[in-house]
This record gives sequence, structure tokens and C-alpha cells, in this order.
Amino acid sequence: MKYAEKVSQSIYNVGVNDHEIDLFEGQYTVPNGMAYNSYLIRDEKCCVMDTVDARFRHEWLDAIAEAMEGKAPDYLVIQHMEPDHSANILAFTNAYPNATVVGNVKTFAMMEQFYGKSFEDRRLVVAEGDTLSLGSHTLHFVFAPMVHWPEVMMTWEDSEGVLFSADGFGKFGARDAKEPWDDEARRYYIGIVGKYGSQVQSVLKKAAGLPVQKILPLHGPVLTENLGHYIDLYKTWSSYGVETDGIFIAYTSVYGHTKAAAEALAEKLRSKGCPKVEIADLARSDMAENVANAFRYGKIVLATTTYNAGIYPYMRTFIEHLTERNFQGRTVAFIENGTWRPLP
Ligand code: FEO
Repeated sequence: MKYAEKVSQSIYNVGVNDHEIDLFEGQYTVPNGMAYNSYLIRDEKCCVMDTVDARFRHEWLDAIAEAMEGKAPDYLVIQHMEPDHSANILAFTNAYPNATVVGNVKTFAMMEQFYGKSFEDRRLVVAEGDTLSLGSHTLHFVFAPMVHWPEVMMTWEDSEGVLFSADGFGKFGARDAKEPWDDEARRYYIGIVGKYGSQVQSVLKKAAGLPVQKILPLHGPVLTENLGHYIDLYKTWSSYGVETDGIFIAYTSVYGHTKAAAEALAEKLRSKGCPKVEIADLARSDMAENVANAFRYGKIVLATTTYNAGIYPYMRTFIEHLTERNFQGRTVAFIENGTWRPLP
């Protein structure tokens, strides 16, 4: 197949890889691009799960046509209305005028806002726990509000043990990127979903009893093996637990003196046998990676100068990134280089 990728006998990934994007959500660097996944289930009734970013309309429609072999899908399920997944709803409904759009009350309210229409004449509004039979496949809708938008739902398909997890278990990086999952999944999770730990915990509890064989997220690879590893990381991240035993030293430095102090501390900690010490200049490294590292380790050190009678800007921004994501349960030490005007 040229566009679609087979996930199983009946399920295809008709999503796309984006190697043109510079910043995801307008702020996250994605050096290895981004994947927008969309899935097609072929059965007596055929169903497409979500759409893709606006720039990939034709490639996505071509992938659906290829996997459908000339037939028309019956349903489009919308699990999440953020535009990286919803931008091509109108393209789909125009291409397949007999298809039904499936979503929840909040989904359709957002469609009204985005497109000025909510498909009253051809929609199926589902509630938590509702099912949709496609033949041998049955979709069960599992609501996941504020993971990380209010309308988000996930979908459990029991005949194959497949969890369509929306943004959950997604990562930065296109699917053809050769890179480990954990680092870019952590940076994605902490950056985008990190604030919503309790909501993620609620969904994990709902999914806990399900015999999941495959996780099909809207970003990154389909997860088919060693699922416990990914689920355990999500349990740790969503409970603000410590993932790695070690210390993260985040510093800013104007003339190199705070840097020298931070590096001297790192050296001292290493020489004393600290299991892992990571150090970053906040002005010269990726902010999202630094934020993710602050959540990863159990102990962090913030070393900075005063500036304009306040905290040096990169450090102030870093702290705002942490607090807005409910940073908690860590040991935090401070080094203040306050020649100008020390602050309490
Ligand atoms: Fe991938 Fe929240 O959109």
C-alpha cells in the first residue's frame, strides 16, 4: 500500500507523517516531525477514527480510499476536536455524503463553533459507555474529559483488544523517526497533558480491567508489545511520581559565574555517587525537555540570578511552566546569585 498501513487484518492506519512542521502547538520543537494518526476499521460497517492536520487533507483522503478499495466508509468517529485531528471533518463529510459523524455533546458543540454546523441530519451522539456495532467489531466509548480537552473520549474495541487512546500514549516525532519512545513521549505528556494528572488517573482506572492487546494513539507509533512499560510510565507521570532516581540542575547564567557554580555542584554530586545528575542551561536548551526532566527526577536544583529586581527571565518562565503543570512532590533546592539585589 502506498498510503495506508495495516495494523491488523481489519484495522489500517490512514494517518500521515509531518516533516514540515517547525513547532507543534506553536511552541514545541519537533526535530523528528510529528505523526497525525487516523485509523480505519473495515467490517460490515466501516469506520474512520479521527482526521488529520489540515495540510494533509489529500494524503489522508487518498489513504482512506486506498484502504477502502473504492467503497465508502459508514462512520467518522471524532474522539478529539483539537485541529490536528479535526481539521478535515468537512473534507470527509463532503467526500462521503452518506457517512454518519459520531461524537459526544461537547464534540458537536465545538463543531458548531469551528464549522458553523453540527451535522444534525447525519450524526450519532454518544454518551459514556455507549457502544456502536460495526459487525464483528464493537466500539465502546470511554470519556476522558480534560485529557487534555473537555470533549475527549477514547474508544475500546473488544474483539481485537484495541484501545484507541486519543492523545494518550502519543509522542512527538513522525512514525518513521528512529528514536526511543520514552523521551519524546515524556516531553509530549508533561508538556501537553502534565497539568491533568488526576483526569489521566481516572481514565487509567477505567482501562485497568480491559485486556488491552494494542494501543492506537493519535500521535506516534502503534503500541503492540510490552504494554506494561508504557502504562507504568503513564501511572508514574499522572501521579507526579519519580521516574528516575537522580538530580536535575537547571540554571541560568549571565556572565558564566552561576554556570560555574552549577557545574561545580554537579561534579561534587557525581563524585559523591549520586546515581544520575543532569544539568541544563535554561537559555540554551529545549524548555519542554527541561520541564519534562524536572518531572522525571525526584530532586531539582534551581540556580539563577536576579534581574530587573526579580528572577532572571528564563528561570521565571521555567518555574511558571512547572507550577502551571501542578509540579509537586519533589525536593527543590535554590542557588541565588543576587549581587544586584538579593531577594527573599
Ligand atoms: Fe493531538 Fe490534543 O491534539
